[in-house]
Amino acid sequence: MNRKIKIAVIGLGYVGLPTYLRLEKKFICVGFDINKDRIYQLKNRFDVNKEFSFNDLKLNKKSKFSNKVSDLNDSNFYIITVPTPIYPNKKPDLRPLEKSCKILNKVIKNEDIIFFESTVYPGLIRSFKNRYFKNKKIFLGYSPERLNPGDKVNTIKKIKKIVSYDSCPNIIKKNISKVYNTISNNIVFSKSIENAEMSKVIENIQRDINIAFMNEIFMVCKKSNLNFKEVIKLAKTKWNFLDFSPGLVGGHCLPVDPYYFYHYAKTKGHNAQFMLSGRKVNDELEYFIFKKIVEKIKSEKLKKILILGVSYKAQVSDLRNSLALNLYLKLKKKFKNKINAYDPKIDKLQSKKFNTLNKIKKMNNYDLIIPLVNHKNFKNKFYRDYKKNKFKYLDIFNYFSK
Ligand SMILES: NC(=O)c1ccc[n+]([C@@H]2O[C@H](COP(=O)([O-])OP(=O)(O)OC[C@H]3O[C@@H](n4cnc5c(N)ncnc54)[C@H](O)[C@@H]3O)[C@@H](O)[C@H]2O)c1
Repeated sequence: MNRKIKIAVIGLGYVGLPTYLRLEKKFICVGFDINKDRIYQLKNRFDVNKEFSFNDLKLNKKSKFSNKVSDLNDSNFYIITVPTPIYPNKKPDLRPLEKSCKILNKVIKNEDIIFFESTVYPGLIRSFKNRYFKNKKIFLGYSPERLNPGDKVNTIKKIKKIVSYDSCPNIIKKNISKVYNTISNNIVFSKSIENAEMSKVIENIQRDINIAFMNEIFMVCKKSNLNFKEVIKLAKTKWNFLDFSPGLVGGHCLPVDPYYFYHYAKTKGHNAQFMLSGRKVNDELEYFIFKKIVEKIKSEKLKKILILGVSYKAQVSDLRNSLALNLYLKLKKKFKNKINAYDPKIDKLQSKKFNTLNKIKKMNNYDLIIPLVNHKNFKNKFYRDYKKNKFKYLDIFNYFSK
């Protein structure tokens, strides 16, 4: 049982890659992903998500990236960080998790440790143990991830990380601590995997609901010609008014997690409708803004419009569930060549796929500029022109005037 720890991180995306890079400095570590292109790029020290540079991706000699299942044979500590999306009908799509369990089923040995980090609902991790690893004596754990891509302050090392596991021998506990203390300086232990599963999913839902509340106020203020900025400034003078901003909610977590909770609650005979109304409001904002932009273009007979930002939020390249991207594509469909979008964060291949600009040649060509994502480099690049009223802006979320 007292074996040398050999780790495999399964799924090298926004969560898996930073986890892997923290661990491979100290342990023998395989970074495994089923996506061949991702492995090829990582081997060539290129991160399409633009979270890590060429230098960051230099591995220690004993570590490697791989898409071969046989490379997992020697590992004894597995960390699963695969996606947890939803189907178009909003039901949890557990196929990536199931597939990773099937892969591990081929390589797992008695006494191995499996930690899941993907966001799930209570009971799911244990159900996988029963379905896929029933005949093996493995140790199971769950450590939800709170990583915030694009955030250079709350980094993986500093974020408090919950680590939960079933009762196990002291040597296993020691190994779990060794591994997770390498990832984060702030570990919060729990003896209940189910409580940890629940705590993760509700963190994201709370944020989604709070933003939905602001989005609702925002839309009503706009419809009634009230100054939203001032309304919030006044309300914030009360000591317990919560400070959230309206905005387009996208990405892999907030638009998805309420449905995981909803599905779970339903299995317990509870209709968790409150969080779904938050989802509805946040999705409605896309149409509200679409209408605003269309009205402006039509009423002012505008000819050339530039959208700033298509990623799902500021400082990231991630386009998953991006409402800014949806808006751009819908406007492009309606107004064809009148609409351009520029996002310096996104990868060149994505830019080509969605026909966005990598560079803006002549600003004078545009008679309206619409910032939809608050990337820092937009403020650096355009703020002076904005202040001088050099170009016409539709700054829906007051990104420039904040
Ligand atoms: N992105 C975030 O900001 C964030 C933050 C906290 C938690 N999470 C959660 O972490 C999990 C992972 O999210 P992500 O954003 O890193 O996803 P991602 O899509 O960026 O990365 C997932 C990676 O897993 C790979 N993969 C898919 N199925 C696989 C399999 N069976 N075996 C091996 N590799 C496989 C994919 O090719 C991809 O490279 C999700 O549950 C998400 O909800 C994400």
